[in-house]
Amino acid sequence: MDHQDIKNRFGIIGNSPLLNRAIDIARQVAPTDISVLIQGESGSGKEVFSHIIHQLSGRKHGPFIAVNCGAIPEGTIDSELFGHEKGSFTGAHEARKGYFEVVDGGTIFLDEVGELPLGTQARLLRVLESGEYIRVGSSKVQKTNVRVVAATNVDVFEAVKKGKFREDLYYRLNTVPLRIPALRERKEDIYLLFRKFVVDFADKYRTPGIQLTPDAQDLLTNYSWPGNVRQLKNIAEQIAVLEKERVVTAQILSNYIPAESQTTLPMAVKDANKESFSERDLLYKVLFDMRKDMVDLKKLVVELIQNGFNPGTIEQNSPYINQLYQEVRPAANAMVNEEYNMQQPATLTIHNPNQQHGNNNDYLTYDTQDVEEVEESLSLLDKESDLIKKALKKHKGKRKAAAQELGISERTLYRKIKDLNLE
Ligand SMILES: Nc1ncnc2c1ncn2[C@@H]1O[C@H](COP(=O)(O)OP(=O)(O)O)[C@@H](O)[C@H]1O
Ligand SMILES: [Mg+2]
Repeated sequence: MDHQDIKNRFGIIGNSPLLNRAIDIARQVAPTDISVLIQGESGSGKEVFSHIIHQLSGRKHGPFIAVNCGAIPEGTIDSELFGHEKGSFTGAHEARKGYFEVVDGGTIFLDEVGELPLGTQARLLRVLESGEYIRVGSSKVQKTNVRVVAATNVDVFEAVKKGKFREDLYYRLNTVPLRIPALRERKEDIYLLFRKFVVDFADKYRTPGIQLTPDAQDLLTNYSWPGNVRQLKNIAEQIAVLEKERVVTAQILSNYIPAESQTTLPMAVKDANKESFSERDLLYKVLFDMRKDMVDLKKLVVELIQNGFNPGTIEQNSPYINQLYQEVRPAANAMVNEEYNMQQPATLTIHNPNQQHGNNNDYLTYDTQDVEEVEESLSLLDKESDLIKKALKKHKGKRKAAAQELGISERTLYRKIKDLNLE
Protein backbone atom coordinates (compact mmCIF):
# COMPACT_ATOMS: atom_id res chain seq x y z
CA MET A 1 0.00 0.00 0.00
CA ASP A 2 1.38 3.38 -0.84
CA HIS A 3 0.42 6.75 0.56
CA GLN A 4 -2.43 7.29 -1.80
CA ASP A 5 -3.98 3.87 -1.13
CA ILE A 6 -3.93 4.55 2.57
CA LYS A 7 -5.40 8.02 2.10
CA ASN A 8 -8.18 6.68 -0.10
CA ARG A 9 -8.98 3.87 2.25
CA PHE A 10 -9.12 5.99 5.40
CA GLY A 11 -10.51 9.18 3.87
CA ILE A 12 -7.38 11.16 4.58
CA ILE A 13 -6.98 14.38 2.65
CA GLY A 14 -3.71 16.23 2.27
CA ASN A 15 -0.40 16.08 0.55
CA SER A 16 2.02 17.91 2.78
CA PRO A 17 5.39 16.31 3.55
CA LEU A 18 4.64 16.24 7.30
CA LEU A 19 1.37 14.37 6.76
CA ASN A 20 2.98 11.93 4.35
CA ARG A 21 5.74 11.28 6.85
CA ALA A 22 3.19 10.48 9.57
CA ILE A 23 1.45 8.06 7.22
CA ASP A 24 4.79 6.40 6.47
CA ILE A 25 5.53 5.86 10.13
CA ALA A 26 2.04 4.52 10.80
CA ARG A 27 2.34 2.09 7.90
CA GLN A 28 5.73 0.83 9.02
CA VAL A 29 4.89 0.40 12.67
CA ALA A 30 1.40 -1.06 12.14
CA PRO A 31 2.34 -4.74 11.52
CA THR A 32 4.58 -4.86 14.61
CA ASP A 33 3.21 -5.08 18.15
CA ILE A 34 5.13 -2.01 19.24
CA SER A 35 3.30 0.58 21.36
CA VAL A 36 2.81 3.90 19.64
CA LEU A 37 2.41 7.30 21.22
CA ILE A 38 0.56 9.64 18.89
CA GLN A 39 1.13 13.30 19.68
CA GLY A 40 -0.83 16.07 18.08
CA GLU A 41 -3.18 18.93 18.81
CA SER A 42 -6.85 18.35 19.32
CA GLY A 43 -8.67 17.61 16.06
CA SER A 44 -5.50 16.92 14.09
CA GLY A 45 -6.38 13.29 13.31
CA LYS A 46 -4.90 11.20 16.12
CA GLU A 47 -7.88 8.88 16.32
CA VAL A 48 -7.87 8.40 12.55
CA PHE A 49 -4.25 7.27 12.79
CA SER A 50 -5.05 4.81 15.57
CA HIS A 51 -7.50 3.14 13.18
CA ILE A 52 -4.89 3.01 10.44
CA ILE A 53 -2.46 1.27 12.78
CA HIS A 54 -5.05 -1.29 13.88
CA GLN A 55 -6.38 -1.96 10.38
CA LEU A 56 -2.94 -2.42 8.86
CA SER A 57 -1.89 -4.83 11.61
CA GLY A 58 -2.31 -8.55 12.03
CA ARG A 59 -4.94 -7.73 14.64
CA LYS A 60 -7.35 -6.18 12.16
CA HIS A 61 -9.91 -8.95 12.73
CA GLY A 62 -9.56 -8.58 16.49
CA PRO A 63 -11.42 -6.02 18.60
CA PHE A 64 -10.57 -2.31 18.73
CA ILE A 65 -11.62 -0.04 21.59
CA ALA A 66 -11.00 3.70 21.95
CA VAL A 67 -10.88 4.89 25.56
CA ASN A 68 -10.79 8.55 26.49
CA CYS A 69 -8.74 8.45 29.69
CA GLY A 70 -9.50 12.09 30.43
CA ALA A 71 -13.24 11.47 30.57
CA ILE A 72 -13.27 8.64 33.12
CA PRO A 73 -13.34 9.59 36.82
CA GLU A 74 -10.19 8.66 38.72
CA GLY A 75 -12.15 6.44 41.07
CA THR A 76 -13.39 4.12 38.34
CA ILE A 77 -10.63 4.09 35.76
CA ASP A 78 -8.83 1.00 37.12
CA SER A 79 -12.06 -0.92 37.07
CA GLU A 80 -12.89 0.28 33.54
CA LEU A 81 -9.51 -0.76 32.19
CA PHE A 82 -8.82 -3.91 34.20
CA GLY A 83 -12.24 -5.00 35.48
CA HIS A 84 -13.37 -5.67 39.02
CA GLU A 85 -14.71 -8.45 41.20
CA LYS A 86 -18.17 -8.44 42.71
CA GLY A 87 -18.26 -6.40 45.93
CA SER A 88 -14.83 -4.88 45.43
CA PHE A 89 -16.24 -1.37 46.03
CA THR A 90 -19.56 0.31 46.77
CA GLY A 91 -21.85 -0.29 43.83
CA ALA A 92 -19.87 -3.22 42.40
CA HIS A 93 -22.90 -5.52 42.40
CA GLU A 94 -21.51 -7.71 39.66
CA ALA A 95 -18.06 -8.67 38.47
CA ARG A 96 -17.09 -6.82 35.32
CA LYS A 97 -14.55 -7.38 32.58
CA GLY A 98 -12.18 -4.52 31.86
CA TYR A 99 -11.21 -3.28 28.42
CA PHE A 100 -7.85 -5.09 28.55
CA GLU A 101 -9.73 -8.35 29.01
CA VAL A 102 -12.36 -7.62 26.34
CA VAL A 103 -9.82 -6.48 23.76
CA ASP A 104 -7.61 -9.58 24.12
CA GLY A 105 -6.15 -10.14 20.65
CA GLY A 106 -6.91 -6.62 19.47
CA THR A 107 -5.89 -2.99 19.89
CA ILE A 108 -6.75 -0.49 22.58
CA PHE A 109 -6.56 3.24 21.85
CA LEU A 110 -5.83 5.21 25.02
CA ASP A 111 -6.70 8.80 24.19
CA GLU A 112 -5.45 11.58 26.51
CA VAL A 113 -3.15 9.07 28.17
CA GLY A 114 -1.42 11.89 30.08
CA GLU A 115 -4.55 12.14 32.24
CA LEU A 116 -4.11 8.69 33.78
CA PRO A 117 -3.58 8.75 37.56
CA LEU A 118 -0.22 7.45 38.76
CA GLY A 119 -1.67 4.22 40.18
CA THR A 120 -3.24 3.35 36.86
CA GLN A 121 0.01 4.20 35.11
CA ALA A 122 1.72 1.50 37.17
CA ARG A 123 -0.91 -1.07 36.15
CA LEU A 124 -0.59 -0.01 32.53
CA LEU A 125 3.18 -0.39 32.60
CA ARG A 126 2.80 -3.89 33.96
CA VAL A 127 0.35 -4.98 31.27
CA LEU A 128 2.60 -3.47 28.59
CA GLU A 129 5.67 -5.29 29.88
CA SER A 130 4.26 -8.68 30.74
CA GLY A 131 0.67 -8.78 29.51
CA GLU A 132 -0.34 -9.27 33.15
CA TYR A 133 -3.09 -7.48 35.01
CA ILE A 134 -5.28 -7.96 38.07
CA ARG A 135 -8.95 -7.09 38.36
CA VAL A 136 -9.79 -4.58 41.09
CA GLY A 137 -10.57 -6.53 44.27
CA SER A 138 -8.91 -9.71 43.04
CA SER A 139 -5.54 -11.27 43.67
CA LYS A 140 -5.52 -13.49 40.61
CA VAL A 141 -3.06 -12.45 37.92
CA GLN A 142 -4.57 -12.66 34.45
CA LYS A 143 -2.96 -12.48 31.03
CA THR A 144 -3.98 -10.59 27.95
CA ASN A 145 -2.54 -9.83 24.54
CA VAL A 146 -3.34 -6.23 23.69
CA ARG A 147 -1.59 -3.73 21.45
CA VAL A 148 -1.63 -0.24 22.91
CA VAL A 149 -1.83 2.89 20.83
CA ALA A 150 -1.85 5.96 23.06
CA ALA A 151 -2.46 9.59 22.22
CA THR A 152 -2.01 12.93 23.84
CA ASN A 153 -2.52 16.54 22.87
CA VAL A 154 -0.24 17.82 25.60
CA ASP A 155 3.47 17.49 26.01
CA VAL A 156 3.69 14.35 28.16
CA PHE A 157 7.37 14.89 28.66
CA GLU A 158 6.50 18.06 30.57
CA ALA A 159 4.30 15.88 32.79
CA VAL A 160 7.24 13.50 33.28
CA LYS A 161 9.43 16.39 34.44
CA LYS A 162 6.74 17.43 36.91
CA GLY A 163 6.44 13.92 38.27
CA LYS A 164 2.88 13.49 37.03
CA PHE A 165 3.70 10.89 34.42
CA ARG A 166 5.98 7.91 34.98
CA GLU A 167 9.19 8.18 33.04
CA ASP A 168 9.44 4.41 32.48
CA LEU A 169 5.89 4.35 31.08
CA TYR A 170 6.66 7.32 28.87
CA TYR A 171 9.61 5.56 27.25
CA ARG A 172 7.69 2.33 27.01
CA LEU A 173 4.77 3.99 25.19
CA ASN A 174 6.94 6.25 23.13
CA THR A 175 9.00 3.47 21.49
CA VAL A 176 7.77 4.84 18.21
CA PRO A 177 6.67 8.46 18.42
CA LEU A 178 4.14 9.53 15.83
CA ARG A 179 3.53 13.24 15.52
CA ILE A 180 0.48 14.47 13.65
CA PRO A 181 1.11 17.97 12.30
CA ALA A 182 -1.25 20.80 13.15
CA LEU A 183 -3.16 22.31 10.25
CA ARG A 184 -1.15 25.52 10.43
CA GLU A 185 1.97 23.44 9.79
CA ARG A 186 0.50 22.15 6.54
CA LYS A 187 -1.20 25.17 5.10
CA GLU A 188 -1.13 23.64 1.63
CA ASP A 189 -3.68 21.06 2.81
CA ILE A 190 -6.22 23.51 4.23
CA TYR A 191 -7.97 24.49 1.03
CA LEU A 192 -7.93 20.88 -0.22
CA LEU A 193 -9.63 19.72 2.98
CA PHE A 194 -12.15 22.55 2.87
CA ARG A 195 -13.15 21.75 -0.73
CA LYS A 196 -13.60 18.09 0.08
CA PHE A 197 -15.71 18.86 3.16
CA VAL A 198 -18.02 21.38 1.45
CA VAL A 199 -18.61 18.98 -1.45
CA ASP A 200 -19.46 16.19 1.01
CA PHE A 201 -21.80 18.38 3.05
CA ALA A 202 -23.46 19.93 0.01
CA ASP A 203 -24.15 16.37 -1.16
CA LYS A 204 -25.42 15.31 2.22
CA TYR A 205 -27.76 18.28 2.68
CA ARG A 206 -28.55 18.66 -1.01
CA THR A 207 -27.44 22.27 -1.10
CA PRO A 208 -25.69 23.91 -4.08
CA GLY A 209 -21.87 23.93 -4.27
CA ILE A 210 -19.70 26.58 -2.61
CA GLN A 211 -16.90 28.58 -4.16
CA LEU A 212 -14.30 30.67 -2.36
CA THR A 213 -12.97 33.89 -3.84
CA PRO A 214 -9.14 34.27 -3.76
CA ASP A 215 -9.23 36.58 -0.73
CA ALA A 216 -11.42 34.06 1.09
CA GLN A 217 -8.93 31.31 0.26
CA ASP A 218 -6.18 33.48 1.76
CA LEU A 219 -8.15 34.02 4.93
CA LEU A 220 -8.87 30.31 5.22
CA THR A 221 -5.21 29.40 4.71
CA ASN A 222 -3.79 31.96 7.10
CA TYR A 223 -6.13 31.33 9.99
CA SER A 224 -4.43 29.45 12.86
CA TRP A 225 -7.00 26.62 13.21
CA PRO A 226 -6.56 25.84 16.91
CA GLY A 227 -9.16 23.06 16.52
CA ASN A 228 -7.45 21.73 13.39
CA VAL A 229 -9.28 19.45 10.95
CA ARG A 230 -12.27 19.04 13.26
CA GLN A 231 -12.78 22.81 13.37
CA LEU A 232 -12.31 23.15 9.62
CA LYS A 233 -14.89 20.43 9.06
CA ASN A 234 -17.39 22.17 11.34
CA ILE A 235 -16.98 25.46 9.56
CA ALA A 236 -17.32 23.82 6.14
CA GLU A 237 -20.54 22.23 7.34
CA GLN A 238 -21.93 25.52 8.66
CA ILE A 239 -21.19 27.27 5.38
CA ALA A 240 -22.62 24.46 3.26
CA VAL A 241 -25.82 24.50 5.27
CA LEU A 242 -26.34 28.12 6.30
CA GLU A 243 -24.69 30.39 3.75
CA LYS A 244 -27.06 31.90 1.21
CA GLU A 245 -24.28 33.25 -1.02
CA ARG A 246 -22.71 30.37 -2.86
CA VAL A 247 -19.71 32.49 -3.84
CA VAL A 248 -18.05 33.13 -0.52
CA THR A 249 -15.84 36.20 -0.09
CA ALA A 250 -13.38 36.86 2.74
CA GLN A 251 -15.99 39.19 4.20
CA ILE A 252 -18.58 36.40 4.35
CA LEU A 253 -16.07 33.81 5.51
CA SER A 254 -15.02 36.02 8.40
CA ASN A 255 -18.52 35.56 9.83
CA TYR A 256 -17.72 31.89 10.34
CA ILE A 257 -14.10 32.06 11.45
CA PRO A 258 -13.46 33.34 14.99
CA ALA A 259 -11.42 36.55 15.19
CA GLU A 260 -7.76 35.89 15.92
CA SER A 261 -6.31 37.10 19.17
CA GLN A 262 -2.90 38.79 19.13
CA THR A 263 -1.42 36.21 21.43
CA THR A 264 -2.16 32.56 20.94
CA LEU A 265 -4.15 30.70 23.54
CA PRO A 266 -1.44 28.54 25.10
CA MET A 267 0.73 31.64 25.55
CA ALA A 268 -2.08 33.53 27.22
CA VAL A 269 -2.51 30.75 29.74
CA LYS A 270 1.18 30.25 30.25
CA ASP A 271 1.77 33.94 30.91
CA ALA A 272 -1.19 34.31 33.21
CA ASN A 273 1.15 35.13 36.10
CA LYS A 274 2.73 38.08 34.35
CA GLU A 275 1.38 41.52 34.99
CA SER A 276 0.57 42.65 31.51
CA PHE A 277 -2.07 40.72 29.70
CA SER A 278 -4.98 42.00 27.73
CA GLU A 279 -8.59 41.73 28.67
CA ARG A 280 -9.01 39.22 25.91
CA ASP A 281 -6.31 36.96 27.35
CA LEU A 282 -8.06 37.14 30.67
CA LEU A 283 -11.31 36.18 29.04
CA TYR A 284 -9.68 33.22 27.40
CA LYS A 285 -8.28 32.15 30.71
CA VAL A 286 -11.69 32.41 32.32
CA LEU A 287 -13.12 30.33 29.50
CA PHE A 288 -10.42 27.73 29.96
CA ASP A 289 -11.07 27.54 33.67
CA MET A 290 -14.78 27.24 33.02
CA ARG A 291 -14.16 24.44 30.62
CA LYS A 292 -12.10 22.65 33.23
CA ASP A 293 -14.90 23.12 35.72
CA MET A 294 -17.33 21.63 33.22
CA VAL A 295 -15.13 18.58 32.77
CA ASP A 296 -14.91 18.15 36.54
CA LEU A 297 -18.65 18.50 36.80
CA LYS A 298 -19.22 15.88 34.15
CA LYS A 299 -16.89 13.54 35.95
CA LEU A 300 -18.81 14.20 39.11
CA VAL A 301 -22.13 13.40 37.47
CA VAL A 302 -20.77 10.13 36.11
CA GLU A 303 -19.47 9.31 39.55
CA LEU A 304 -22.79 10.15 41.17
CA ILE A 305 -24.63 7.93 38.74
CA GLN A 306 -22.21 5.09 39.26
CA ASN A 307 -22.45 5.36 43.01
CA GLY A 308 -26.20 5.14 42.81
CA PHE A 309 -26.92 8.56 44.32
CA ASN A 310 -26.47 7.39 47.87
CA PRO A 311 -25.61 10.60 49.73
CA GLY A 312 -24.14 8.69 52.65
CA THR A 313 -21.51 6.87 50.66
CA ILE A 314 -20.87 9.47 48.00
CA GLU A 315 -19.39 11.97 50.34
CA GLN A 316 -16.81 9.60 51.72
CA ASN A 317 -16.05 7.98 48.40
CA SER A 318 -15.82 10.96 46.21
CA PRO A 319 -12.77 13.14 46.16
CA TYR A 320 -14.67 15.27 43.63
CA ILE A 321 -17.48 16.00 46.01
CA ASN A 322 -15.10 16.96 48.77
CA GLN A 323 -13.11 19.08 46.37
CA LEU A 324 -16.29 20.64 45.07
CA TYR A 325 -17.42 21.47 48.58
CA GLN A 326 -14.17 23.22 49.28
CA GLU A 327 -14.12 25.06 45.99
CA VAL A 328 -17.74 26.06 45.86
CA ARG A 329 -18.16 27.28 49.41
CA PRO A 330 -16.28 30.55 49.11
CA ALA A 331 -17.94 31.24 45.76
CA ALA A 332 -21.35 30.52 47.22
CA ASN A 333 -20.67 32.82 50.12
CA ALA A 334 -19.55 35.55 47.74
CA MET A 335 -22.76 35.13 45.80
CA VAL A 336 -24.78 35.40 48.92
CA ASN A 337 -23.01 38.64 49.71
CA GLU A 338 -23.75 39.92 46.25
CA GLU A 339 -27.35 38.98 46.59
CA TYR A 340 -27.32 40.82 49.87
CA ASN A 341 -25.90 43.96 48.32
CA MET A 342 -28.20 43.86 45.36
CA GLN A 343 -31.26 43.66 47.48
CA GLN A 344 -30.43 46.95 49.09
CA PRO A 345 -32.52 49.51 47.23
CA ALA A 346 -29.75 52.10 47.44
CA THR A 347 -27.00 52.87 49.88
CA LEU A 348 -27.68 51.59 53.31
CA THR A 349 -26.58 53.76 56.19
CA ILE A 350 -26.35 53.07 59.85
CA HIS A 351 -27.61 55.69 62.20
CA ASN A 352 -26.59 55.97 65.73
CA PRO A 353 -29.79 55.28 67.66
CA ASN A 354 -28.90 58.11 70.06
CA GLN A 355 -28.92 60.66 67.31
CA GLN A 356 -31.94 59.16 65.77
CA HIS A 357 -34.88 61.23 64.80
CA GLY A 358 -38.32 59.76 64.50
CA ASN A 359 -38.84 56.12 65.28
CA ASN A 360 -36.24 54.97 67.79
CA ASN A 361 -36.46 51.36 66.79
CA ASP A 362 -35.72 52.24 63.24
CA TYR A 363 -31.99 51.74 63.32
CA LEU A 364 -31.90 50.98 59.63
CA THR A 365 -32.92 53.52 57.09
CA TYR A 366 -32.43 53.62 53.38
CA ASP A 367 -30.86 56.69 52.02
CA THR A 368 -31.18 57.21 48.30
CA GLN A 369 -29.53 60.61 48.10
CA ASP A 370 -26.73 60.84 50.53
CA VAL A 371 -23.74 59.94 48.39
CA GLU A 372 -21.29 60.89 51.12
CA GLU A 373 -22.54 58.00 53.15
CA VAL A 374 -21.41 55.47 50.58
CA GLU A 375 -18.09 54.86 52.24
CA GLU A 376 -19.65 54.15 55.56
CA SER A 377 -22.25 51.92 53.97
CA LEU A 378 -19.54 49.74 52.48
CA SER A 379 -18.29 48.88 55.92
CA LEU A 380 -21.66 47.41 56.54
CA LEU A 381 -20.49 44.00 55.48
CA ASP A 382 -18.24 43.86 58.51
CA LYS A 383 -21.09 44.81 60.73
CA GLU A 384 -23.55 42.43 59.29
CA SER A 385 -23.39 40.00 62.15
CA ASP A 386 -24.23 42.87 64.50
CA LEU A 387 -27.12 43.94 62.33
CA ILE A 388 -28.51 40.48 61.99
CA LYS A 389 -28.47 40.06 65.76
CA LYS A 390 -30.25 43.34 66.19
CA ALA A 391 -32.84 42.55 63.56
CA LEU A 392 -33.50 39.17 65.08
CA LYS A 393 -33.83 40.72 68.50
CA LYS A 394 -36.18 43.36 67.25
CA HIS A 395 -38.41 40.77 65.65
CA LYS A 396 -38.13 38.42 68.59
CA GLY A 397 -36.27 35.78 66.61
CA LYS A 398 -38.77 35.74 63.75
CA ARG A 399 -36.53 35.19 60.76
CA LYS A 400 -39.03 36.16 58.12
CA ALA A 401 -39.60 39.59 59.58
CA ALA A 402 -35.91 40.06 60.32
CA ALA A 403 -34.97 39.17 56.76
CA GLN A 404 -37.51 41.61 55.43
CA GLU A 405 -36.16 44.35 57.59
CA LEU A 406 -32.61 43.58 56.48
CA GLY A 407 -33.64 43.53 52.86
CA ILE A 408 -32.36 40.04 52.21
CA SER A 409 -34.12 36.80 51.48
CA GLU A 410 -34.98 34.43 54.27
CA ARG A 411 -32.76 31.83 52.72
CA THR A 412 -29.83 34.23 52.71
CA LEU A 413 -30.46 35.15 56.30
CA TYR A 414 -30.60 31.50 57.22
CA ARG A 415 -27.23 30.90 55.58
CA LYS A 416 -25.68 33.93 57.16
CA ILE A 417 -26.83 32.86 60.60
CA LYS A 418 -25.12 29.56 59.98
CA ASP A 419 -21.98 31.02 58.44
CA LEU A 420 -21.55 33.66 61.14
CA ASN A 421 -22.34 31.17 63.88
CA LEU A 422 -25.14 33.27 65.28
CA GLU A 423 -27.31 30.42 66.51
N1 LIG B 1 -6.16 14.32 7.06
C1 LIG B 1 -7.49 14.27 7.25
N2 LIG B 1 -8.32 14.21 6.20
C2 LIG B 1 -9.65 14.18 6.36
N3 LIG B 1 -10.26 14.19 7.55
C3 LIG B 1 -9.48 14.23 8.64
C4 LIG B 1 -8.07 14.27 8.57
N4 LIG B 1 -7.56 14.29 9.82
C5 LIG B 1 -8.63 14.30 10.64
N5 LIG B 1 -9.79 14.26 9.96
C6 LIG B 1 -11.13 14.33 10.52
O1 LIG B 1 -11.09 15.34 11.51
C7 LIG B 1 -11.87 14.98 12.65
C8 LIG B 1 -10.99 14.95 13.88
O2 LIG B 1 -10.06 13.89 13.81
P1 LIG B 1 -9.66 13.02 15.09
O3 LIG B 1 -8.84 11.86 14.63
O4 LIG B 1 -10.84 12.71 15.93
O5 LIG B 1 -8.72 14.07 15.84
P2 LIG B 1 -8.03 13.96 17.28
O6 LIG B 1 -8.20 12.54 17.75
O7 LIG B 1 -6.61 14.32 17.04
O8 LIG B 1 -8.73 14.94 18.16
C9 LIG B 1 -12.49 13.63 12.32
O9 LIG B 1 -13.76 13.86 11.79
C10 LIG B 1 -11.56 13.08 11.25
O10 LIG B 1 -12.24 12.19 10.40
MG1 LIG C 1 -9.78 12.76 19.60
